[in-house]
Amino acid sequence: MCKIKIINGPNLNMLGQREPGIYGSATLSDIEKMIQNEAEKEHIETAFFQSNSEGDIVSAIQAAQTEGVDGIILNAGAYTHYSIAIRDAIAAITVPVVEVHLSNVYAREDFRHISVISPVCKGVIAGFGPASYLLAMQAFIIKGS
Ligand code: DQA
Repeated sequence: MCKIKIINGPNLNMLGQREPGIYGSATLSDIEKMIQNEAEKEHIETAFFQSNSEGDIVSAIQAAQTEGVDGIILNAGAYTHYSIAIRDAIAAITVPVVEVHLSNVYAREDFRHISVISPVCKGVIAGFGPASYLLAMQAFIIKGS
């Protein structure tokens, strides 16, 4: 059994209402249910966390180290682009982190082209809407990835 922690950052609790032309109509709860369904098929245990606060996200990343988590799927929202504290938390643990984004951040504003967390993540998946999270889960399932 593999355990994956899914961490969502600021404003992702607003999915469904927030800029649907960019982020789609699914709510965070819809996305978590979709992840849960796929995880069950693969016998993966999940833990979901969302916060709008940088410090809470740092603490959730640190806690993964002692929670027996095998991997983290992280959508850090806007913190992706400037939070050195979140970058340092990822670098401080041995649990691999896959960075995800619903939107293709590279097709958007210049400030979204910079991720301060990518260099300390195992990989990055962006632009596939809610499926970005499922693709990230695959990254933990596929042997040798
Ligand atoms: C996002 C992209 C970020 O630039 C933005 O600040 C978000 C969501 C995404 O999932 O596409 O909040 O991480």
